[in-house]
Amino acid sequence: MKYYHLQNHEDYKAAYKASIESPEAFWEQIASTHFVWKKKWDSVLNWDFTKPEVKWFEGAKLNITENCIDRHLEQRANKTAILFEPNEPNEPAQHISYTELHERVCKFANVLLQQGIKKGDRVCLYLPMIPELAVSVLACARIGAVHSVVFAGFSAKALATRINDCDCKLVITSDGAFRGNKTIHLKEIVDNALESCPNVHKVLVAKRTQSHVHLKQGRDFWLQPLLDQASKDCAAVSMNAEDPLFILYTSGSTGIPKGMVHTTAGYMVYTAYTFKNVFQYTEDDVYWCTADIGWITGHSYIVYGPLANGATTVLFEGVPSYPDYGRFWQLVEKHQVTQFYTAPTAIRALAKEDIAHVTQNDLSSLKVLGTVGEPINEEAWHWYNEHIGNKNCPIVDTWWQTETGGIMISPIPNSTKRIIPTFATLPLPGIQPVLMNEEGEVMSDSPASGKLCIAFPWPGMARTIWGNHERYKATYFSTFKNHYFTGDGAFRNKAGYYRITGRVDDVIIVSGHNLGTAPIEDAIDEHPDVTESAVVGVPHDIKGNALYGFVSLKNKAKSEETLEKEINELITQHVGPIAKLQTIQFTDGLPKTRSGKIMRRILRKIAQGTTDDLGDISTLLNPEVVAAIKENAKRS
Ligand code: WT7
Repeated sequence: MKYYHLQNHEDYKAAYKASIESPEAFWEQIASTHFVWKKKWDSVLNWDFTKPEVKWFEGAKLNITENCIDRHLEQRANKTAILFEPNEPNEPAQHISYTELHERVCKFANVLLQQGIKKGDRVCLYLPMIPELAVSVLACARIGAVHSVVFAGFSAKALATRINDCDCKLVITSDGAFRGNKTIHLKEIVDNALESCPNVHKVLVAKRTQSHVHLKQGRDFWLQPLLDQASKDCAAVSMNAEDPLFILYTSGSTGIPKGMVHTTAGYMVYTAYTFKNVFQYTEDDVYWCTADIGWITGHSYIVYGPLANGATTVLFEGVPSYPDYGRFWQLVEKHQVTQFYTAPTAIRALAKEDIAHVTQNDLSSLKVLGTVGEPINEEAWHWYNEHIGNKNCPIVDTWWQTETGGIMISPIPNSTKRIIPTFATLPLPGIQPVLMNEEGEVMSDSPASGKLCIAFPWPGMARTIWGNHERYKATYFSTFKNHYFTGDGAFRNKAGYYRITGRVDDVIIVSGHNLGTAPIEDAIDEHPDVTESAVVGVPHDIKGNALYGFVSLKNKAKSEETLEKEINELITQHVGPIAKLQTIQFTDGLPKTRSGKIMRRILRKIAQGTTDDLGDISTLLNPEVVAAIKENAKRS
């Protein structure tokens, strides 16, 4: 039995069973048949969640770029590896073949070596979504430098914190970034950040916007002249299986961001395997994930997972609203995209625009649609299914985290018998989810609602938090003994399908009832006049908590009173009268993180009237909405 490509329900069942009964044999088979190794492992897995310590493929030696590039050169030399679509629709797309990618990565790797970067050094990447970003990620991996990509929407302060936390020696940036009709002066932001980063000695600057920049002598260099002089051959450094590949920061509920450390072999095997199956990628497909490489979704499912499968992966510089709200759908037609992967927040935003933006384009190339990042509400799911997928494309609602490295729970097209909207459905092979009750006991019966944990290691998991293993242990392995705790709540139905109900810190207990915010928000979002909503808890003398809803409207024709009544009626219908909102505040928008998540922490403080310290709102996508929401807060 070959497990790499799951093509139907029987394949999935057999693979899942094997992965639970003999995980080592299962992953060993996948690792030995679909990757190239400089040396094979001595042992497949060593683990102890109490330390916690997890090691996959110990003793093996490899380089991930040989797996993502070199080995494809024989069969796919001229195949497009990266299809770059610029911000401006009239700037031509670039088709970067595997041969060209190889050359560009080798040259870039040689530049890094010339600048004194060695295996194990940390390099910070602060770049827009241009080919140089993917190339520099791979160039670091080629020579064993640890990349730390910081999303280019973060402020100078946030950038400096991340540079200093893992002690980056070198920063790669660009003169600027195009985002829709805006030009962002990235180099200036880097200059500001570096005022508080004494250990950065070199900055390489890619030219993109032709913005005027100041180059500090001896520290800052234009990238292109260095690349022009570099050799196009660069040996791939031999890496140990557990050598760090990259660090990626994710925010915690408190404290400075956590630098999640991903290592080489397990991450490669896991992202390649999950990419292949969740998206059912086949040779001539054109796969497009709209995330930014600054997030884990971009690392795993724009760069490493697709390239490890010899895929064509789209890299889009722009935004969904520029030059108009049809851009995504124009590009699907233009490049004949077959798999399209985006976030619920983007779907909701596009769904409220004129449907002509969609219908003007031929979307018939699409085969699989994906979503990630937060629970998708039913209305958005149906819009995506009907208008984008023409009811003909399975929707893979993929649940995972920066920490998990790859997709954990998701439908598999053709294998998952029945996809239920808002359910991430079943665990992928190798993943052993469990639900825990308040007493910390595993809930073995279904249906059940509890805290989502993972009982057994998987190859893609983060191994530690950079420089703070104690925090790693405390955050993920201390709440429940011998389990990885995800921080999410989930519901499991009778069939064993999982529905992620949201972060457990978003669970609100009203009169002793455990209410997830997601199903309530779903019900609210069903209202035709509503764009989106967020529900938070406010203290209540008798019930413990009452519910306060922030609701943004696309249509303000009805009176607030009528809307309030209708919304509570919908909640009563979908969740039950217990979940009715005590207070509803209508807003023009909701505060969001750069990755599109609603910042409930801020809304909770506003609802509770404790706005003296809203925390740092500078990293929000839209900090301007906060003042108005604060101003109009309702006191009950
Ligand atoms: C959190 C992780 C993993 C890539 C992007 C986010 C939420 C993620 C889903 C989904 C419901 C989801 C969870 C998770 N989440 N995917 N399909 N359904 N919730 O990575 O920033 O590390 O966030 O995003 O709450 O814990 P991240």
